[in-house]
Amino acid sequence: MTIDGSWQRAARGAGLLSPDGRIASTIFAEMSGLAQATGAINLGQGFPDEDGPAEVLEAARKAIADGVNQYPPGTGMPVLRAAIASHQRRFYGLTVDPDREVLVTAGATEALAATILALVDDGDEVVTFEPFYDAYGGLISLARGIHRTVPLRRPGFQPDLDELRATVTDRTRIILVNNPHNPTGSVLSRETLEVIVELAHRHDAIIVTDEVYEHLTFGVTHVPVATLPGARERTVTISSAGKTFSTTGWKIGWLISTPELVTAILAVKQFLTFVNGAPFQPAVAVGLELPESFFRGIAETLQAKRDLLTRGLVAAGFDVSSPQATYFVVADAAPLGYTDAATLCRELPALAGVVGVPISAFCHEELGAEYASLVRFAFCKKTDVLERASAQLARLGR
Ligand SMILES: Cc1ncc(COP(=O)(O)O)c(C=O)c1O
Repeated sequence: MTIDGSWQRAARGAGLLSPDGRIASTIFAEMSGLAQATGAINLGQGFPDEDGPAEVLEAARKAIADGVNQYPPGTGMPVLRAAIASHQRRFYGLTVDPDREVLVTAGATEALAATILALVDDGDEVVTFEPFYDAYGGLISLARGIHRTVPLRRPGFQPDLDELRATVTDRTRIILVNNPHNPTGSVLSRETLEVIVELAHRHDAIIVTDEVYEHLTFGVTHVPVATLPGARERTVTISSAGKTFSTTGWKIGWLISTPELVTAILAVKQFLTFVNGAPFQPAVAVGLELPESFFRGIAETLQAKRDLLTRGLVAAGFDVSSPQATYFVVADAAPLGYTDAATLCRELPALAGVVGVPISAFCHEELGAEYASLVRFAFCKKTDVLERASAQLARLGR
């Protein structure tokens, strides 16, 4: 029996399937497997090891007990759409119509998938920064789009604006922004965001902005692209409850855009999952309405964890770039004599009982060299886990 549809062919072309049709193993799976097999501390995967706010968890339990267990409406439960709209007003001064401009999705991932599948035609170009969150490459291939990238340059992991200007053309359908940025932890400058909006206008492109780390910034204020003059009418803003409320397994995400774009994306979304997570939706609504102190608190806690792991990595001999946001710190292994981070990551469980992920895993092959000695470590872990990891990493420097 042949199963070789056009998606399989596209996936093979993008390296997502091996030539014999198996799912290609990723470095993420390999590293998590290593962590499991060796008992090493897994700082490879970006999920918290502590529960989020009790009110949010309790609201989900209550919703299940109250019988909120059947299909919610296709665009999401009204209580959650209203909470998303009021969150945008409270934090960013944006007025959003909860009935026509908000779509609840199965995580940010489904929002990205439905948006890209809805808007990208065969051969359309999608511009992202590089390194990029791995799903972007896969989704662009599945839509049979062409992925163009603009490198984020060290130090600070910011783009060269002339390179950005040269990459966005009339062939560009989407400028896909991830701000704050995984894996580098960088926050794009306002000037960069302004250039993105200017280029989207000049080339009639749509801006899709993945802001799942919007509340996890350290001493810098998050600026949603949609708040910039001229941006809203051509922007799809994507976020998720996973990172903000430490509920990555609930897969409740959302997007905000114009009624026309929301309708186009909904047409795809209804045949992907239709809906998901009924009892989690009112719980996330409770989370979005928590007082400002909660949002400040999660960022402060995470910042202390960033500092703790950074100290450990510096003491171990890495050159560490201090991230302004997210769960991740990037450490350069070159001062330790490792020019290939992938090799170091494979050896790290035996050397120090710790797992990280090479930044090259977030790059196209041809660009990997520039980032060859860089490792991403996640610091969204319990303090004692980070202390143990730091102590173990210190063995490297001896
Ligand atoms: C940049 C970025 N976008 C999207 C996602 C996926 O979000 P979700 O779990 O809500 O689908 C992640 C998760 O790691 C991420 O880092």
